[in-house]
Amino acid sequence: MQDKETLLAIVERAIGALPLEEAEPTGLYAPIRYILEDGGKRIRPLLCLMGADLYGGRAESALSAAVAVEVFHNFTLLHDDIMDQAELRRGRPTVHRKWDPNSAILSGDAMLILAYRILQDGAGVYGSEKLPALLDVFSRGAMEVCQGQQYDMDFESAEREVSLDEYIEMIRLKTSVLLAAALEMGAIVGGASEGERQALYEFGVNLGLAFQIQDDLLDTYGDAETFGKTIGGDIAVGKKTFLHITAMERASASQREAISRPGDRAEKLSRVRGIYDTLGVRGAAEETIAAYFDRALAALHQAHAVPERLAVLEKYAYSLLKRTK
Ligand code: IPE
Ligand code: IPE
Ligand code: MG
Ligand code: MG
Ligand code: MG
Repeated sequence: MQDKETLLAIVERAIGALPLEEAEPTGLYAPIRYILEDGGKRIRPLLCLMGADLYGGRAESALSAAVAVEVFHNFTLLHDDIMDQAELRRGRPTVHRKWDPNSAILSGDAMLILAYRILQDGAGVYGSEKLPALLDVFSRGAMEVCQGQQYDMDFESAEREVSLDEYIEMIRLKTSVLLAAALEMGAIVGGASEGERQALYEFGVNLGLAFQIQDDLLDTYGDAETFGKTIGGDIAVGKKTFLHITAMERASASQREAISRPGDRAEKLSRVRGIYDTLGVRGAAEETIAAYFDRALAALHQAHAVPERLAVLEKYAYSLLKRTK
């Protein structure tokens, strides 16, 4: 299998080649170029290409599926940043801040359409007989992301506490399924069997759960420069993150009150983080991340691929476990 760096270069080249440069009106396409141009980790397209490579297919055959998923992911970020009132993404102003919310909405809409267009246009390469299966996996995953995002919004405004099980289901939908769909789409292009597809999907779901809990952790404990998002954004808007839920389960009545009390952004961050520290919430998150990661690896080993090819995917997954951005 080609290594991660080679696959990343292939992805970047394909994204760079999208015909957005001259496209008009500029107001529609400039934000699309801006969000797609650089800085992302490109996890989903890499997983897609690795999924194709795993079963002996050429990674490049899955390139349009990979780019489609990455364009879709970046579309969700434009809308997510409005919903989360986020100011920074990948170390730069979010689209709704640099332009305005309407631009982020409409450019996001166009990216969703573009994602389907890219997938459809690649049929000549991966084989048009595979398009229905690819569309099925992609559309299901895409709809589930919306469901997860709605739960995320519902939980944020809910007065009641959210259970850990509800939270896990929410992040499975908003984050994990897209990683899983990317892998499964790669596997479809690579010609995997039904069982192999399912094992890879299961790997993606568990990897995604670990990945989103890490994202929650980095949102509170990360380094702003490296993470590229405003630290404390989740605490500022009252997100029901893994950290919040675990803290509320462990907190005394006065600690609960202190976690929920509004306040100036910096003051609230240091107050809430202090309580998280006292309650050992960080360690709980790290343990849970490790547990989902182990489940992911167990599923991956059910994927019955050539060991050397599996090793590339496994190594890449381990690198994600250590991420700081
Ligand atoms: C951000 O995804 C949204 C989440 C699901 C946490 P990534 O962390 O993959 O974002 P980029 O594309 O690398 O910036
Ligand atoms: C992101 O969750 C999920 C989607 C974008 C669908 P977050 O809201 O935690 O992602 P970030 O932290 O803004 O990247
Ligand atoms: Mg969000
Ligand atoms: Mg967000
Ligand atoms: Mg986040």
